[in-house]
Amino acid sequence: MRKILNVRPAGSRNYQVRIGPDILHELIRVLPLECATVCIISDDNVAPLYAEKVKAVVKERAEVEIITFPAGEANKNRMTKEQIEDKLLAANLRRDCTVVALGGGVALDMAGFVASTFLRGVPWITLPTSLLAAVDASIGGKTGLNTTQGKNLIGAFHQPYAVLINLDFLTSLPAEEIDNGLAEMVKHAVIADADHLNELVEAAGEIRSLNLKTLERPVRRSVEIKAKIVSMDPGERNLRQVLNCGHTIGHAIELVSQYRIKHGLAVAAGLSVEAGIANQLGLLSTRELERLREVLRNLSLPLAPPDILDPAILLEATRTDKKNRLRKNLYSLPVGLGKMISAGPDGYVHQVDDEVVLAALEETQESLA
Ligand SMILES: NC(=O)c1ccc[n+]([C@@H]2O[C@H](COP(=O)([O-])OP(=O)(O)OC[C@H]3O[C@@H](n4cnc5c(N)ncnc54)[C@H](O)[C@@H]3O)[C@@H](O)[C@H]2O)c1
Repeated sequence: MRKILNVRPAGSRNYQVRIGPDILHELIRVLPLECATVCIISDDNVAPLYAEKVKAVVKERAEVEIITFPAGEANKNRMTKEQIEDKLLAANLRRDCTVVALGGGVALDMAGFVASTFLRGVPWITLPTSLLAAVDASIGGKTGLNTTQGKNLIGAFHQPYAVLINLDFLTSLPAEEIDNGLAEMVKHAVIADADHLNELVEAAGEIRSLNLKTLERPVRRSVEIKAKIVSMDPGERNLRQVLNCGHTIGHAIELVSQYRIKHGLAVAAGLSVEAGIANQLGLLSTRELERLREVLRNLSLPLAPPDILDPAILLEATRTDKKNRLRKNLYSLPVGLGKMISAGPDGYVHQVDDEVVLAALEETQESLA
C-alpha cells in the first residue's frame, strides 16, 4: 500500500499528504465529512485541463463550483482575491464548503488565502499541478499575495485540510516550468540532505521527462523535508526560517525583474548568491560553495541574477523582505550542504551587512551570469 505522509503542525490539525500517479480519485477520501460544496479555484491555464476531472470525482458527494482567474504571478494580487471572493459570495457558499486549490504555486497561494478569510476561514485542499507546487507550495499552509512593494507581503498561515499530489497532473507542465520546481528541490536538499542533492543530479533527466515511475521518489523526498520542518514550526517563528534559503535574493530578483524572472529560477540564482554570502562570512567552505554551483550548472539552473539587474537595486529590493526586523537584513544561510545555520540571536537567520551582499551579487554577476 502507498505510504501516506503526515504533516503534524504543532497547534493545528494533522493532515495527510498523498503522493502518486493516478490518485485523483482519492480526493473523495480526504474531503471533510461536513463538506456540502466543493469550490475549485484554479487559473485559466490549468482549469480547462483538469477542473472537470476534479469535478467528476467529487460531484457525487458535493455540489461543485469552479472559479478561475488569469494565470501568472502578476495576477497574484488583491484585485484577483476580491474577484474570487465576489464569486464565492454570489454562489451563496456557507462554511460547509471546501476550497480545492488546483494549479501551480500562484493558484495555491491565492486559493489558500481566499480560504483563510472567507467566512473567517473554510477548509482547503491542495491539488498541485506544477512541480514547484508539488514539492513546496502545497505543504505548510503559507498563503498570500503580492503588492507593488513586494512578494507575499499580505497573507496568512492557513494549514490545508489535505494535500493530494496526483503526479499525472504534472505531465502537461511546460518544460521551462520544471526548472522552477527543480530549484526548490535543490533548496530542500541544501537545507537538509546532501544525498538528495546528488540524487537530483542523477535523476534530472527522469525528472525533466516527467517519468511518472521515477518522479515519485525525488518528489517524496523533497516533500518529506518540507513536511518535517513545517511540522516543527508551522508559524515560522524559528526553524521554518531555513526554508527561506535563497529567497531574500530570489524575491528581490522577482520584484526588480517585474516578475519576468520566475520564482524558481530567481530562487536558484538566490541560492548561489546567498551561498556566496555564507562563504564570504566564513560559514560555508569554498569546496561546498563550488559543489552547489556545480549542481545548479548540471541542472541548467541560473547561478546569478542576469547582469542587466543592477546589484544596488537588488540590494534595495531585499529591504522589503518579511524576515527583516529593526532595519536588520536577515538571511537564512547554509553552513554546509544539507546543513543550515543554527539558531542565534535573530533566530535561524543571520544579519548580513550591505557591503557583503553587494560583493556577493557582484561576484556572481561578474563571473557566473
Ligand atoms: N506557499 C508556499 O509555501 C510557496 C512555496 C513556494 C512558492 N510559492 C509561490 O508559488 C508561486 C510559483 O509557483 P509556480 O512556479 O507553480 O508558478 P505558477 O502557479 O504561475 O505556474 C506556472 C505556470 O504553469 C502553468 N501550469 C501549472 N500547472 C500546469 C500544468 N499541469 N499544465 C500546464 N500548465 C500548468 C500555470 O498556469 C502558470 O502559467 C510563486 O508565487 C511563489 O511565491 C509559494
